[in-house]
Amino acid sequence: MKLILLGPPGAGKGTQAEVLTKQLGVETISTGVMLRAAMRDGTELGKLAKKYIDDGKLVPDEVVVGIVKERLSQDDCKNGFILDGFPRTIAQAEALDAAGIEIDKVLSLEVSDEVIIKRLAGRRECKKCGTPYHVINKPVPEDGKCICGGEVIQRPDDNEETIKNRLKVYHEQTEPIKAYYESRGKVISIDSSHSVERTNEAALKALGLVKQEQ
Ligand code: AP5
Repeated sequence: MKLILLGPPGAGKGTQAEVLTKQLGVETISTGVMLRAAMRDGTELGKLAKKYIDDGKLVPDEVVVGIVKERLSQDDCKNGFILDGFPRTIAQAEALDAAGIEIDKVLSLEVSDEVIIKRLAGRRECKKCGTPYHVINKPVPEDGKCICGGEVIQRPDDNEETIKNRLKVYHEQTEPIKAYYESRGKVISIDSSHSVERTNEAALKALGLVKQEQ
C-alpha cells in the first residue's frame, strides 16, 4: 500500500498514521517530523526549515522533494509507505509522478477549521519521537514523559496566529491537490471530526481493509 494522508493541519494525519502504520505494516514518512528533527539537530536543513515553519509557511518544494525522494529510496519503503504531510503542493505531487512513484490511494481527512483550532490548542508532542498527544483526547502518560521516554512539549507553531497562517496556506496551496488526485480516481474521503477510534474505523473501511456494514 502506497498511501497519502491528506488533510489540513490538525486533521489527525499524524494520529491516524501512528495507528495505520501498524495496521498496514508499512513505514510512515512524515515531512513535518523529519523537518522538526533537523531543526532539533541544528542541521543546515533544520536552520532553513525553521525560517518557514515558525511563520506557518511551506518549506520550498525543492528542499522537501529532495528529502522525501531520498527517504522513499530506502529498503523499508520498497513494499509500501504512508506519506503524512507530503505532497503539499501541486509541484510536490508532480515530483512524485516524475520520479515514477505510483500512489495507490489518497485518504482525505475532512474536518472543519473550528474543530482544528480546538485540537491544535490542546496538542502536545514528544520532542524525541514526534508522537502526538492531546490534553483531553490523548493525555500524556502520568509521569509527563512520552512512551519512548522523551520530553513532551507544545509545538511552537501551535500558537493561534501561526495556526491561522497554516490553515490559510493549506486552503490556498494544499487543498488543490485533492482535485489533482481525484482526476486520477485515487481519493477517498472520511469524516475526521469524530474520535480517533471512529476515524480509524472509517479509514479501514474506506481502504477496504474491513467489511462495509450492510
Ligand atoms: P506538519 O508537521 O505536517 O504539520 P501539519 O500538516 O500542520 O499537520 P499537523 O501535524 O499540525 O496535524 P495532523 O493532521 O498531523 O494532526 P495530529 O494527528 O497531530 O508540518 C509542519 C510544518 O512543516 C508545515 O507548516 C510546513 O512549514 C512544514 N512542512 C511539512 N511538510 C511539508 C511539505 N511537504 N512541504 C513544505 N513544507 C512542509 O492531531 C492534532 C491534535 O488533535 C493532536 O493533539 C491529536 O491528539 C488530536 N486529534 C487527532 N485526531 C483526533 C480525533 N479524531 N479526535 C480528537 N482529537 C484528535
